[in-house]
Amino acid sequence: MSSTLITRIGTLVTNDPALGDGPLGLIEDAALVLDGGTVAWAGRAADAPDADERHDAGGRAVIPGFVDSHSHLVFAGDRTAEFNARMSGRAYSAGGIRTTVAATRAATDEELEANLTHYLDEALRQGTTTFETKSGYGLTVADEARALRIAARHTEEVTYLGAHIVSPDFAEDPAAYVELVTGEMLDACAPHARWVDVFCEKGAFDGDQARAVLTAGMAKGLVPRVHANQLTYGPGVQLAVELDAASADHCTHLTQADVDALASGSTVATLLPGAEFSTRAEWPDARRLLDAGVTVALSTDCNPGSSFTSSVPFCIALAVRDMGMTPDEAVWSATAGGAAALRRTDIGRLSPGARADLAVLDAPSHVHLAYRPGVPLVREVWRRGTRAV
Ligand code: NIG
Ligand code: FE
Repeated sequence: MSSTLITRIGTLVTNDPALGDGPLGLIEDAALVLDGGTVAWAGRAADAPDADERHDAGGRAVIPGFVDSHSHLVFAGDRTAEFNARMSGRAYSAGGIRTTVAATRAATDEELEANLTHYLDEALRQGTTTFETKSGYGLTVADEARALRIAARHTEEVTYLGAHIVSPDFAEDPAAYVELVTGEMLDACAPHARWVDVFCEKGAFDGDQARAVLTAGMAKGLVPRVHANQLTYGPGVQLAVELDAASADHCTHLTQADVDALASGSTVATLLPGAEFSTRAEWPDARRLLDAGVTVALSTDCNPGSSFTSSVPFCIALAVRDMGMTPDEAVWSATAGGAAALRRTDIGRLSPGARADLAVLDAPSHVHLAYRPGVPLVREVWRRGTRAV
């Protein structure tokens, strides 16, 4: 692979404070050299070394590709009617997941994969270069395992979420379902996944059940992450910190003890404002978490029920407008924050040695992602040093 010099960059977000200004390591009038799929050099355009090829960014901003560390993209069908009813006043509940479970079970492998690639392509065009995705709409041994097999063809960040809700087939005996999720289903799923997750919530799994799911997964070598404190206050966040989960996701209803727990540990708080937008729920308080010193990630939660958006720029705009984040913080959380939530150091930054995953914006700076909400600002996407969009 030949080396490429991307020159005449307006503002370059490196996320490396050693390279530029502030936590985003901002460089004005910048250039980047990509070589062999990684970043070889970042700095002022005037100091740039030569490369085989030259690409003119025309004064536009360049940011690391978005790291969407939370999505649910292996599913079939949609939930338009449920969304419509919600926007007429009906509340969101975990029960709607059953609709997608039925459609997903009825779909062929080809249909599920076509659906997944459709939403991945949509996300890529909006600047997402790494994404995590989960099972959780199969809820049988075979359906969960196939969801993970399909996901693993498209990303290394695959999460086993057999514990999304209690399978409708076990409505009378939730304990037996937890046994399945921690036993035979886990055995079938663990080889295809990196992470184990549980929806710890009223109407899904309580603290004890969630602990059983996560510790069983950990015993099989999976690393925990938790759907925590989305719809109500509950034990999810503190359980996540106690088990040193990579991430506690949603974090919408937090007590001071929850915030203190997050601040004391290394668990990232992943905020998913698409869910609050699409369920008309109260916003998570990003400012409170940031002021407490918690590492915050920002992701889409893309799924057909609670957050049917694949757009990280949309989530950035919401986080800035409604969650108390500055534009710089929101962009950091959607790139470096997502990488931290996936315990990755090779992505989410544009400094030497990082993966050459980046977006060129149709704007002079990254601030426009919040300043110009709803405008398709992602003009080019490069993955591993090659232009993908
Ligand atoms: O993260 N909270 C649990 N799971 C999804 C919603 C899934 C659905 O409604 O289909 C979420 O919001
Ligand atoms: Fe989710």
